[in-house]
Amino acid sequence: MDRQEAIDFLLDHYDNPRNQGELDQADVSLTGGNPGCADIITVQAHFDHDGKIDAVRWHGEGCTISRAAASYVTEMVEGMTPDEVEAMTFEDLIDQLGRELVMTRPTCATLALGTLKRGVHEYHMHKRAQEDL
Ligand code: FES
Repeated sequence: MDRQEAIDFLLDHYDNPRNQGELDQADVSLTGGNPGCADIITVQAHFDHDGKIDAVRWHGEGCTISRAAASYVTEMVEGMTPDEVEAMTFEDLIDQLGRELVMTRPTCATLALGTLKRGVHEYHMHKRAQEDL
């Protein structure tokens, strides 16, 4: 992806955000923010009976990069298991968003993924603890 393609890709997600909104029923619902700015983004997810994400939403306030990344991340994680979400890396995400564009703002680019990963980790731990009872 060259620089212009990366800009177009980010602006498309910013202008036409995927999965923006709120879930009525969520297994994961967590709000994250960045130190140094007042932006916050809430990410929600619901898992089906096979343990895969069958619905995911995000909402909140953020800069262009954080909003575009939230849209992209929620599109990426549909159908994933908790293990697969936890295995996603910030470095891979930055590459997929266009490293040249977002590397100066890594905390913006990774806000939604970091929030989702924390929420999924908590959900996963809670579920394992229930299964051990
Ligand atoms: Fe706040 Fe980017 S400046 S999330």
